Amino acid sequence: MIKSIILAAGKGTRMKSEKPKVLHEIFDKPLLGYVIEAVDNTGMCDENFVIVGHKAEQVEEYINNNHCKNTKCVLQSPQLGTGHAVSMVLPYLNKFNGNIIILCGDTPLITSDTLNKFINFHREKSSDITVMSAIFDNPSNYGRIIRNPDDSVHSIVEEKDANPEQKAVKEINAGIYCVNWEKVNLAFSELKNNNAQGEYYLTDIVKWGNEHNLSVNAYTLSDNKEIFGINSRENLAEAVRIMNNQTLSRFMSNGVTIVDPSTTWISGETEIGTDTVIYPCCYINGKNKIGKHCKIGPFAHLRGDVVLEDYVKIGNFVEVKKTTIKSHTNACHLTYLGDSEIGSNVNIGAGTITANYNPLTKVKSKTIIKDNVKIGSNSVLVAPVTIEEGANVGAVGVITKNIPAWALAITRAPLRVLENWVQKKK
Ligand code: UD1
Ligand code: CA
Repeated sequence: MIKSIILAAGKGTRMKSEKPKVLHEIFDKPLLGYVIEAVDNTGMCDENFVIVGHKAEQVEEYINNNHCKNTKCVLQSPQLGTGHAVSMVLPYLNKFNGNIIILCGDTPLITSDTLNKFINFHREKSSDITVMSAIFDNPSNYGRIIRNPDDSVHSIVEEKDANPEQKAVKEINAGIYCVNWEKVNLAFSELKNNNAQGEYYLTDIVKWGNEHNLSVNAYTLSDNKEIFGINSRENLAEAVRIMNNQTLSRFMSNGVTIVDPSTTWISGETEIGTDTVIYPCCYINGKNKIGKHCKIGPFAHLRGDVVLEDYVKIGNFVEVKKTTIKSHTNACHLTYLGDSEIGSNVNIGAGTITANYNPLTKVKSKTIIKDNVKIGSNSVLVAPVTIEEGANVGAVGVITKNIPAWALAITRAPLRVLENWVQKKK
């Protein structure tokens, strides 16, 4: 088994944020979460070290609250560069003699598939240091890979230290490395910071490796979107779009109709069955399971933990959260359904609200609606509450207690018509 080091101590100055960069989110999951998940999904790693520094408490809190398994936070303070960051794990790994992969916490699009290929390449080549590289038409801001005539890697030169000839190189350092720890750990006490940024560069292990007769190679990525790094809010928006496009393509190739991919946002953790149609302007976030032949939107918002069976209709301006809905149920207009269990063949009238939250006690409660129930328009179901099978709620119902099966519940004041009232007032 190998180990990973994930660099996440930097400030992320260009984000202009009060929050550490790696905690910025795509579909509610921090960038760092995607990287840890990709590493875990390789199945090759039994321990992750996350290097924390800037606002370390917040990053540690995320790791602890999300039960990231086998993941330890190691503090780097002050932050003197990527090479200095990796050196923080030396005390933990002085007896380790396997391979280590090193990644950055700000590249959320990396996949476990690519990491597996990368690690296998490193092993097959019996490489001591393997650098992931990619070819970019516009390589600015990345470190450039300088190759030897035999294709092995000579060095990595940062943009700020590069001469015009080096700047013209289009092969860049993706910031992901696999190293033979027993041989390479010695480099970290010898790194120098005599460069344009006055930092201890991790990239200098390449030159060090060559000076110590190690085998240094580069693995060139075919899809360079995967190592897209987030340095600014613009990059963040672009990464969301890339991830969303990948998700939508996957749905469409599995038989889901996405009417307008340019206005549809769906998290990668959502599953959708065949022949479901997603109409324009929907935002589907978190983990959800949508069945077959459903119709969602236009303008629907699913906020996570939503399970829809087949033939469910969620119409315009309907928000659904933590709710299970059985087959052939419709909620077509202007509705909020939260913390609910809804049966089959139910009709939820326009403007229905499940009042699931008590702001005084801060307690959230459940609404249970059994099969064949009809909820009249503009009703409020004050949870905890159960509407038993087949019951009807008249329009504008304010339901504060359980309604028995097949009953009619009406809470509105009787209609009064005062004849000629307007004329008498004149
Ligand atoms: C780095 C590489 C560059 C590569 C690029 C790929 C170096 C010197 N340069 O540049 O060759 O093309 O990544 O994206 O490594 N960090 C720490 N502690 C520090 C400094 C940084 O943990 O003291 C972390 C940051 O939080 C970040 C990662 O290291 O996650 C990379 O740092 P960043 O400043 O973004 O490096 P780049 O300039 O992008
Ligand atoms: Ca970066």
